[in-house]
Amino acid sequence: MVPEPIGLQSDTVINNFRVTPTFSVYCRPMIDLRSDTVTVPTPAMLKAMAVAKVGDDVFLEDPTINALQAYAADLFEMEASLFFPSGTMANQTAIKVHTRPGDELICDAGAHVHYYEGGGIASNSGVSVSLIQGNQGVFTAADVFERIRPDNVHFPSSRIVCIENSCNRGGGKVFPIVNIQEIAEVCRQNGLKLHMDGARLFNAMLAEGSAPKQHGKLFDSISICLSKGLGAPVGSLLLGSRNFIAQARRVRKVFGGGMRQAGYVAAAGLFALQHNIERLKEDHIHAQSLARKLAELPYIDVVFEQETNIVIFQLDVSVDTAHFLAYLQHFGIMALIMGPRMVRFVTHLDISPIDIATVEQVLEDYRI
Ligand SMILES: Cc1ncc(COP(=O)(O)O)c(C=O)c1O
Repeated sequence: MVPEPIGLQSDTVINNFRVTPTFSVYCRPMIDLRSDTVTVPTPAMLKAMAVAKVGDDVFLEDPTINALQAYAADLFEMEASLFFPSGTMANQTAIKVHTRPGDELICDAGAHVHYYEGGGIASNSGVSVSLIQGNQGVFTAADVFERIRPDNVHFPSSRIVCIENSCNRGGGKVFPIVNIQEIAEVCRQNGLKLHMDGARLFNAMLAEGSAPKQHGKLFDSISICLSKGLGAPVGSLLLGSRNFIAQARRVRKVFGGGMRQAGYVAAAGLFALQHNIERLKEDHIHAQSLARKLAELPYIDVVFEQETNIVIFQLDVSVDTAHFLAYLQHFGIMALIMGPRMVRFVTHLDISPIDIATVEQVLEDYRI
């Protein structure tokens, strides 16, 4: 049943918000644009989960987990992969396997591994970081080269470079494959490992037109998330060589991530990889539309360059961020604060074209 629209005849104050006559929005449940992690499984995904064959994965006996791991490794043409409860655990495991205490990791200042993983690089691996101020998360081979430490007892040992693709705090910016190839070459020449946090790699590949096997060739390890745009409720995969994955399995166990009959959730991940990649394009179109609308609005200062499913924008100094978010929430729209006056919208599987039209109307009607 289509819900009744609220149509307004004149300027009206609703809960302290003045709303203009152009405003017409359907009363409906939340339009949750905080993150693409908020999706819930579709009926088809739930069905795949319900009929999954399972076993004890610590004994390597879960056929669905084994099938998911083999499917992902084939897709990227990498030797092996390992199922994880989260992207954070997959990244932190990769860093721990690749490094020793006293080593140093090179990444962008906004990289999830550094910015959002609870200081795990230091506490799990005893590793320091050398940060690059990239362009929306993207950096160059020259940036990496500059940060490689001389072989001298005073310095930590440069050991690993971490690339995030797409770049979350960079507004979903794609890390171009050309940059990655040049960085991979610098890593090869200087004995550095190269890890990709590919939580949203499928978004990046679709936007750029690159293929999983191109990335598989360039990295020592790649993590991908099944529970973001791909719509699975839980799960990430770490990919690498057979030897690397054997070590990662050990670290995962020590981190408390050894799982038993997790094939029920692996089934959702397999379903996501088989059915939900192409449709990410719809999320990109929705994000484009939001970015275009935001760019027209007088109370928005900056809209970050938008390429995938994330839109980050900065409100004008005259706007109170809390007021703006409360206004959105009043109309059932949720967004995330990313910094002073910085707000993030993320489009995903549970956001429809009608939702986007609704958000755009609500944005247009905002008055400071
Ligand atoms: C770029 C990036 N990497 C890693 C993660 C971690 O994923 P998880 O929440 O599954 O630990 C996230 C989560 O949002 C992310 O955006």
